[in-house]
Amino acid sequence: MKGILLAGGSGTRMYPSTLATSKQLLSVYDKPMIYHPLSVLMLAGIRDILVISTPTSIPSLQSLLGDGSRLGLTITYAEQQEPRGIAEALIIGADHIGNDPVALILGDNVFHGAGFPRLLREARNDLNGCTLFGYPVSDPERYGIGETDAEGNLVSLEEKPLRPRSNDAVTGLYFYDPDAVEIARDLTPSARGELEITDVNLAYLKQGRARLIRLGRGFTWLDAGTHDSLLAASQYVHVIETRQGVRVACVEEIALRMGYIDAEHCHRLGARMRNSSYGQYLMQLAQLAA
Ligand code: G1P
Repeated sequence: MKGILLAGGSGTRMYPSTLATSKQLLSVYDKPMIYHPLSVLMLAGIRDILVISTPTSIPSLQSLLGDGSRLGLTITYAEQQEPRGIAEALIIGADHIGNDPVALILGDNVFHGAGFPRLLREARNDLNGCTLFGYPVSDPERYGIGETDAEGNLVSLEEKPLRPRSNDAVTGLYFYDPDAVEIARDLTPSARGELEITDVNLAYLKQGRARLIRLGRGFTWLDAGTHDSLLAASQYVHVIETRQGVRVACVEEIALRMGYIDAEHCHRLGARMRNSSYGQYLMQLAQLAA
């Protein structure tokens, strides 16, 4: 399975903080926001990842993530010239996807919960068409919304409905078979001028090949795309990390646990940042693993 991480958009909702940098590089407490979606792809076992962003943001994303080899990954980059919608990522990423299934994730989405790696692996193995992940929210009119019947089958999908049929937001993580590229190519832009990812999902739903995995209440999903939600995400990560003494979305730790890098390599990555508690954490992990 290939990965696409969409870190596009002009970040206008977060001006002036994003006048000179991209939203996905802002800090969620102690690390760049983009580590969160990147860690989700890594936990799903995906190593070949295309990062899509604006021409101005790509150089700074590249200086953070490079070609991915530091983490045992292959990371390449492609431009989205204008914010023309999430579904355009599938068209931009067509060559990258090829004949493989793909996981698309949005650069400002934060997922955290026990059992997530297993859930991702199972979803990947069971993929037949399109798999979406739902999460209960108090403000469903802000999101794509999925409705399931008593048996848990997905029966309707709506983008930012005025009168939502359920409280299950469709999160910014989408698993697709390779047909998604052709489906995206056939779309016409919505009233807001974007190729809507919900329209891709609706095409699969019409074919009877879309499912929604509802992430339960014990799970956390946050989007960090506004000042308030970024602060909330930072506070969440801060509480978990200081209470438990572990790091959330520590990409080097995931690379070590997945066996993509060895302890010595992890120690070197930490030593480069030895003045920060993050760097010290990596060196400690490496010592424990050695
Ligand atoms: C987008 C999608 C929406 C989804 C949300 C998740 O919304 O269109 O369906 O629920 O991401 O973060 P947007 O960020 O474009 O408002």
